[in-house]
Amino acid sequence: MQLDRRMTSYAVTGATGHLGRLAVTHLLDRGIRAADVVAVVRDAGKAADLAERGVQVRAADYDDAAAVKAALAGVDRLLFVSGSEAGRREAQHRNVVAAAQAGGVQRIAYTSIARADSNSTPLAIEHRATEEMLRGSGIDTVLLRNSWYVENYTAQLEQYRATGAIVGAAGEGRVAAAPRADYAEAAVAALLADVPGSATYELGGPAFTMSELAAVLGDVTGTDLAYRDLSPADFRAGLVAAGLDEGTAEFVLALELATAAGELDVPSTDLERLLGRPATDLRSALTALVG
Ligand SMILES: NC(=O)c1ccc[n+]([C@@H]2O[C@H](COP(=O)([O-])OP(=O)(O)OC[C@H]3O[C@@H](n4cnc5c(N)ncnc54)[C@H](OP(=O)(O)O)[C@@H]3O)[C@@H](O)[C@H]2O)c1
Repeated sequence: MQLDRRMTSYAVTGATGHLGRLAVTHLLDRGIRAADVVAVVRDAGKAADLAERGVQVRAADYDDAAAVKAALAGVDRLLFVSGSEAGRREAQHRNVVAAAQAGGVQRIAYTSIARADSNSTPLAIEHRATEEMLRGSGIDTVLLRNSWYVENYTAQLEQYRATGAIVGAAGEGRVAAAPRADYAEAAVAALLADVPGSATYELGGPAFTMSELAAVLGDVTGTDLAYRDLSPADFRAGLVAAGLDEGTAEFVLALELATAAGELDVPSTDLERLLGRPATDLRSALTALVG
């Protein structure tokens, strides 16, 4: 159904998180009235700036089914930002999907993971389960299968600098990372598009290996950086020696092995098609973030 843009209301969950906040800003930048935007947050105190801009701020924890239902009442289109509490997300996301059904939401755009069908990382399990819920919901669903954020690497910059190395077990595996800002802009484009029905987008920027990452990040930050590739066993042992518990070490290793296997490479132009421009390349992204 074609919606009258002036009467359509949009909600963003996780609106005080990095991606959600960027998405709310993009909605406003695209000319959506602040009064037609609902920011669903856990802590309304963290959304005071959004409320000040006229955005409707509604507090709801994903664990609280009744609160989520109230938060999504009257919403037409929802950007459903996946939760960050791994292991608890399947039940939490079920509450969001049920609330969207109860509230008559007409389109959900959900932030999933690259190659969700076949992705071998532990992170993919809850995304697959959520995609399944959404398929069964009867609501038009846009699956935004995001590859890695470039920010996953800048978050570790101090550690890289201290050792002069990016240490991993990803071999020559390529990662189609893009900055959060690109994914947020693309999510908003998918939410606003007047294209009926469901869709799946595999989203990622220009792919790079960890050696290329080290070279560009070193260049941008004026640091001598190299990528040091370890065997899976040595990488895992290094994590445990650094204080990670066995389960977390296994989890981190699984991400490296998925990278080595090319599961985070996304040979698709979906991101640039949604953006209407090329996705941000690694050097530009790193320069904007830490240059
Ligand atoms: N593609 C990638 O590389 C990558 C990397 C990391 C995460 N992710 C996924 O993408 C999502 C968005 O990324 P991000 O960088 O914006 O993460 P983020 O900054 O951690 O934001 C997560 C958002 O989810 C909200 N949230 C978490 N648990 C909740 C709950 N029980 N009830 C209600 N809200 C809850 C958080 O609320 P508060 O603001 O109150 O904390 C926050 O707003 C993450 O949650 C995760 O699923 C993807």
